[in-house]
Amino acid sequence: TSTILAYDKGPKILCPAMNVHMYENAVTQRNLNTCRELGWTIVEPESGMLACGDAGKGRMEEPARIETAVEALLLANRPDGELPLKGLAVLVTAGPTQEPLDPVRFLTNHSTGKMGYALAEQARDLGAQVTLVSGPVALDAPYGVDVVDVTTARDMFDAVTNRFSDTDITVMAAAVGDFRPVEQARDKIKKNGRSSIELELTSNPDILAWAGEHKRPDQTLCGFAMETRDLETNAAKKLASKHCDMLAANNLRTPGAGFATDTNVVTVLTPGETADKPNIERWSKMGKDALAKRILVKLAAMRADGERH
Ligand code: C5P
Repeated sequence: TSTILAYDKGPKILCPAMNVHMYENAVTQRNLNTCRELGWTIVEPESGMLACGDAGKGRMEEPARIETAVEALLLANRPDGELPLKGLAVLVTAGPTQEPLDPVRFLTNHSTGKMGYALAEQARDLGAQVTLVSGPVALDAPYGVDVVDVTTARDMFDAVTNRFSDTDITVMAAAVGDFRPVEQARDKIKKNGRSSIELELTSNPDILAWAGEHKRPDQTLCGFAMETRDLETNAAKKLASKHCDMLAANNLRTPGAGFATDTNVVTVLTPGETADKPNIERWSKMGKDALAKRILVKLAAMRADGERH
């Protein structure tokens, strides 16, 4: 407390940790609010078992999350010129979608959301206001990011289309289910002695294609593509048909790429002179954080380039 009181050169972060009754005490809360009003960042404690044996809110936040808060604050306090996405609104989609069959079952895919979450975190660190529209994943909500949780492709479509016009850069890393069951049974589907059943599926809206059709010239759109064959041909078609400014394509069969890995190997396509001849860059294997940063910095550079012309 004496050190923090004596320090007046930069931002301050306070990470309170104490017994739940002490934390909830009006005196503590009033003092925390005073600190907030003075511009300090408060990293709230977690709920759970406390050292004294009580349970409740008061556990110190995980050091890794405190570190993230420190990084975000340091980045936010840098001079403008150093943050390529300062002042921009970035929308990211991440994770799988779930399409319910009945109250207990759903169709989904292997997406873990890692790539999308890395994009949201890096966009935040590069100075953007970030909204992350996320399907069901096991990842923590990133600090300082506005997270919108969705379940089905149609929920994700609504979440994106409602926010799209306020967005400068949109990156769609979600693995959206292409199809959903035509009917969702009200009760659990029973075997009833059957050896097979038929399931009729209908297509979901293509969110990226919608965004491509509705984007203004000042908006930048980046899609992802996961392929199992003919990567560059398929990706080039997607770039053009979905009107993207960039498409990051990865092959599920390439070691170190795809779902649930911490690394990715992508080929990055941007529109070329003609639709059938996109610019193609083959990036080497890198961590999803490094890749996310590189994609965002490239998008920022493309926007700056566009403004110059
Ligand atoms: O055509 P394909 O599904 O392979 O395209 C992948 C890209 O399109 C990804 O960026 C994904 O997030 C997006 N997508 C979407 N809505 C869908 C299907 C895919 O936004 N219904």
